Amino acid sequence: MSTRHIPVLLHEVVAAFGPLAGKLLVDGTLGGGGHTRALLDAGAARVVGFDRDAGALERVGEIAGLTKVQGNFVEMGAVLDGLGVAVVDGVLLDLGYSSDQMDDAARGMSYSHDGPLDMRMDVGERLTAAEIVNGWREEEIADVLWRYGEEPKSRAIARKLVAARKARPLETTGELLAVLDEVYPPRGQARSHPAARTFQALRVAVNHELADIEAAVPQAAQRLAVGGRLVVITFNSLEDKLVKRLMQGLARDELDNVGRVVKPAVFKMLKKVMPSAEEVAGNRRARSCKLRVLERVR
Ligand SMILES: C[S@@+](CC[C@H](N)C(=O)[O-])C[C@H]1O[C@@H](n2cnc3c(N)ncnc32)[C@H](O)[C@@H]1O
Repeated sequence: MSTRHIPVLLHEVVAAFGPLAGKLLVDGTLGGGGHTRALLDAGAARVVGFDRDAGALERVGEIAGLTKVQGNFVEMGAVLDGLGVAVVDGVLLDLGYSSDQMDDAARGMSYSHDGPLDMRMDVGERLTAAEIVNGWREEEIADVLWRYGEEPKSRAIARKLVAARKARPLETTGELLAVLDEVYPPRGQARSHPAARTFQALRVAVNHELADIEAAVPQAAQRLAVGGRLVVITFNSLEDKLVKRLMQGLARDELDNVGRVVKPAVFKMLKKVMPSAEEVAGNRRARSCKLRVLERVR
């Protein structure tokens, strides 16, 4: 089966790593392999490509120069140690989900398809969306919706979910959507569906996405050779705020108590890159993406 995923900011990603000839890179989010193929085509010598979704690795198949790893990008350091790789010239994290995952009804990722309340990227992990919705306390659910979905009606939704599950556990995305419809009655052609926030929140919680980003960004930065770059693509404001804060922290000089630099920063942040209007017109998924780059300077 081939991928349906269109890589975002493809030329910008290739350009962000500079001249690629002979470079050793990590792609922490292999997905459909589009970015990795372009990086290898542009001259990279080798890519170590991670995906926590075994199905993604299968779809990518074999590519000369690619070493595939089924696992979370937070394991990057240990895996590179195992491969005998001390430093790399670049790391790419294209966060979130591929179209292959979002469009697969069986994974229950999206309110657009009826499927089981699952949402795991790695089906070997234990926690599913059904477990959160049917098993967590009302306040815990409200907290997830508020923190990871920025859902203003988080408490009302959590209350309705807890009432609905008393009759019988919710099993499908359609059943979840029916409860959300009670809080947000359908209004025809609204620009964005209010269910998007709840689905995002549950996906983020099921896949512990923010904790993984928090662990991976400093780890990836520490693996960079001088001149090496960490390139991160985010798709929502939660991810983007976190990545920006982590990169800014790494790019800060160490000061003494009167503000003199005692240790200049090892990293610097480069200018943020956004998709062009043409790209967004051709690929709706690109509309919210931002690319941030951190470079090791010493
Ligand atoms: C947006 S897609 C990447 C698309 C890819 N750049 C391409 O060109 O096709 C994100 C992929 O990263 C994977 N992923 C997300 N978080 C991950 C993590 N913490 N560790 C490993 N893979 C992850 C997902 O399973 C998904 O396949």
